[in-house]
Parts: sequence; C-alpha cells; structure tokens
Amino acid sequence: MKVTVVGAGAVGASCAEYIAIKDFASEVVLLDIKEGYAEGKAMDLMQCASLNHFDTKITGTTNDYSKTADSDIAVITSGIPRKPGMTREELIGINAGIVKTVAENLIKHSPNVILIVVSNPMDTMAYLAHKVTGIPKNRIIGMGGALDSGRFKYRLAEALEAPISDVDGMVIGGHSDKGMVPLISHATRNSVKVSEFLSEEKLNWVVEETKLGGATLTKLLGTSAWYAPGAAVSALVQAIACDQKKMFPCSALLEGEYGLNDLCIGVPVILGKNGIERIVEIELNEAEKAKLTESAAGVQKTNGLLEA
Ligand code: LAC
Repeated sequence: MKVTVVGAGAVGASCAEYIAIKDFASEVVLLDIKEGYAEGKAMDLMQCASLNHFDTKITGTTNDYSKTADSDIAVITSGIPRKPGMTREELIGINAGIVKTVAENLIKHSPNVILIVVSNPMDTMAYLAHKVTGIPKNRIIGMGGALDSGRFKYRLAEALEAPISDVDGMVIGGHSDKGMVPLISHATRNSVKVSEFLSEEKLNWVVEETKLGGATLTKLLGTSAWYAPGAAVSALVQAIACDQKKMFPCSALLEGEYGLNDLCIGVPVILGKNGIERIVEIELNEAEKAKLTESAAGVQKTNGLLEA
C-alpha cells in the first residue's frame, strides 16, 4: 500500500506521522515544492520509526511526481492555510491553481489513485479535482466532516462532562464556519440522545463552538490546525487501505442524494478499498434539511468562483 501526501507542511507531515504510527501502509511519499523540505520531514519521521515501532517507509521529494508513481491513495494538503480572521473561502484564488496542478500530476503518475482532498476551501477543491481529473466519483473524497465531527465530539464531551468515548455524533454539510451542520438530533451519549442531558442553550453552545472549531484554533495558533486534521485524514486513509467499510461524513459528489446535485458536500459515506463505496442517506429533521440546503447554496456560490 503506497500513500502519497502532497504538501509537507504541518497538516501533511502530521498526516504522514499518524499513518506511519498506525503501521498499515508499506510506503508514504511526502512531496513538497519547497527544496529539501519534504526530504527533511521524511528523514525526521523515519528517525521516529524505532522509537514509535513502525515499519512504514517514509520518503520525501521536492516536486518529483515520478516518485509518487503507482500510489494507491494520495492526499492533497497543498496550498496556503488560513490566517487569523480569514475564512476558508478566501483561500480559493491561490489554492485552486495549486490543487489543479497537483491533481493533474498525481493522476498522470497514478491513474488508479484514490484522492483525498484537504486543501481549502475543501468542498470546492474536491469539486475542482473532479472537474480536472474526470476520474470516477468514488475516487475523490473531501476531508472535512471527519475532522468537524472530532471537534463536535470534543465539545459534546465537554458539555456533558463525560469521557469522549461515551459520545457519538456527526457533522455534515460544507466544511466552513457557516456551512457545517452538526447533527444534534443524532448525537448520543452511549445510545441516549444528548438532548436528554443538555439544555437547548448548552446544545446551541456546542453547535456554535463546533462550527468555529477551526477558526478558534487559527486565532490561537496564528495558522490553521494540524493534529486533528492529520488524525482525521489518517483515519480515512486507513479505512480505504484496510477496506474497513467504516462510515465517516466526507465531501462527496452528489447526484440527487439529499436532493442536491453537481457539488461536493459533506454527507455520510462508507469508505472501503474502492474509496466511497456508498453514500448513506439518513433521515434529517426539517431544521437540519433546511441547514443542509443553505450550506449547499454556500458551497455552490464558492464553486461559482472557479469559473471566474
Ligand atoms: C481546519 C482546516 C484543516 O478546519 O480546514 O482546521
């Protein structure tokens, strides 16, 4: 199992580290445009191998896509991250050009690769990857909902004063401050609805803190987060590499599901060896349906900037 991670910045390197520590891939190739940077990160990570007990071989390359040839899975993290006060949508101008070039180069050397798109604005970048590569829709996955759900569960556990392992929940919709739809009606504490434990006011707090999860960290760190994004990507990569058939909310190209068409947006999917094996349509209440429709309109608006 060969995995390429494009972009050896904080998210890319964190993602490579988590993949290696979980020790399911034979090879991880880190690629970056900055001279020597991916090679350096790969060497540093390889010096953890004996300490952290993994056999995954990590190598780095400065923009040489021939080194990524025959990858099974490729993760696109390249582009610029958010600065405090910026929305993910504001990154489109620079990142669209970068993601286009990266996706084309990856497909050239690995025609059967499954792409995981992380660069922001992520739903629009996943859609762009479809447009430029034309590969089947099961092979392009946008990573947003898995991360946002991690942030949702963190805040739920905090509000419930419960361990995170007691909590389950999912965030669908666009990966943006306004567009995320944390599904409170489906969130549970050990199978009991969280609304049994938390007031409406507390639940609203959880929803707002979840939606601002990335922005809060960007403010604290001066750039966007990396540990949770890296962990979320590695979970998706593992589900595909190990054919786990695990369900995550991911950005997928919709063709009528949830009444939506011709956009990528976060919905529950089953991930296995073929990438997106199935889009799962769950029952949403009226408020959640309305929020998803509104979120989709936001994503479509950002997609519209691609043609401009
Ligand atoms: C975040 C970036 C990865 O939400 O979109 O932290």
